[in-house]
Amino acid sequence: MLHTKSFNYQVFTHDNELNHQDLELLNNARQMTKHSYAAYSKFHVGACAMLDNGKIITGCNYENASFGATICAERVLLGSLQASEYRNNIIKTLAISYCTNGLSNSPVTPCGICRQSLLEYEINNGCSIKLIMAGMSGEIWIIEGVHNIIPLGYTKTDLTK
Ligand code: THU
Repeated sequence: MLHTKSFNYQVFTHDNELNHQDLELLNNARQMTKHSYAAYSKFHVGACAMLDNGKIITGCNYENASFGATICAERVLLGSLQASEYRNNIIKTLAISYCTNGLSNSPVTPCGICRQSLLEYEINNGCSIKLIMAGMSGEIWIIEGVHNIIPLGYTKTDLTK
């Protein structure tokens, strides 16, 4: 028996096609790339989340000479939320952007480890995060739910098998 998993995502050509709130969040993520410590990759990533109470939480990548110690913007954001007074609020939307010395004009998607962390966040909170991804310009992609981009993912329930 053949099983298939697929998902839809939206592609926007211009910033002005986004609704006001999504564009504001994306521009916050773009701004957050300036906070990034990307001494080695020079790939500056910014993330910005809107919570269910309307508050904003941000993150940026934080690199290290021991490359494996590097933390991505998305996981910095999750840790920052957990450490904040809003840890019991829920992420509704998460915007991710990046800035390099190049064009930075096409979207990036979260790395595998961040998908894993965001998936566990969605499961723990019974939520589905709207993911907005774009560079400093160019196409913008929107995916409704991180679980869509980590199909058949490993989760904590596997530990009880
Ligand atoms: N990075 C992120 O922060 N988020 C992503 O979704 C992709 C990659 C960071 C990790 C590293 O500091 C740099 O980008 C290059 O991989």
